[in-house]
Amino acid sequence: MNLILLGPPGAGKGTQASMIEEERGLEQLSTGDMLRAAVAAGTDLGQEAEKIMARGDLVPDELVIGLIAERMDQGTGKGTILDGFPRTIAQAEALDALLDERGEKLDAVIEMEVNDDALVERITGRFSCAQCGAGYHDVYKRPKVAGECDRCGATEFVRRKDDTEEVVRSRLKAYHEQTKPLIDFYKNKGRLYAVDGMADIAEVHDAIAKVLDDVS
Ligand code: AP5
Ligand code: ZN
Repeated sequence: MNLILLGPPGAGKGTQASMIEEERGLEQLSTGDMLRAAVAAGTDLGQEAEKIMARGDLVPDELVIGLIAERMDQGTGKGTILDGFPRTIAQAEALDALLDERGEKLDAVIEMEVNDDALVERITGRFSCAQCGAGYHDVYKRPKVAGECDRCGATEFVRRKDDTEEVVRSRLKAYHEQTKPLIDFYKNKGRLYAVDGMADIAEVHDAIAKVLDDVS
């Protein structure tokens, strides 16, 4: 199964993708995570992407398409949850071609419907485990034992550089201008399923699980 989680920054794509990955044995492919890894490793790609990401703009299509193609080639064959890709029509068309070449199909595009006001609060409250990357929130998803990661027990946490209110506003602008057209693109292909992303994390998860059960 291949599915896309589509939604603005802070919609909960990463949170839900990790839950689905653990439960259904699919592989989460997050272009944001891949780009942050490239920045941390100081690769040519990372150096090119760093300033663009810090501004909250989109990285050029050919760079992210290259990353996804490479990861699909190394794929486990279990199917993928695309988190943060595609983000432009050009990326969506490239994805169609990549899946075609591999004799695979796209099963569902889950649109996570949220309102912009909630997103700034979600993003500025977000932090993650420095060791395993598990995601948390100051209010909505605190570690079960204060100061300790639920998944690996580590005690160091980090916040993303682009999670300031100013950069979140630019990321939202990029979403509305460049990514939102994908909703009609996938609606026209009969692949779009909308879920209410304003519900709590467990309810959103249940709504997505229902879609996945229906399409599989
Ligand atoms: P990326 O890393 O993809 O960031 P994003 O799309 O801005 O999404 P986020 O990771 O901020 O949000 P999310 O939807 O995953 O929310 P989360 O689950 O963490 O991209 C970063 C940058 O990389 C881009 O700006 C761009 O420069 C570049 N880039 C990446 N992909 C690209 C591409 N394809 N093309 C071009 N450039 C690309 O949740 C947020 C918080 O809310 C968490 O703390 C969570 O605990 C909490 N939360 C989640 N769900 C709920 C809920 N239902 N109720 C309450 N709280 C919740
Ligand atoms: Zn951890």
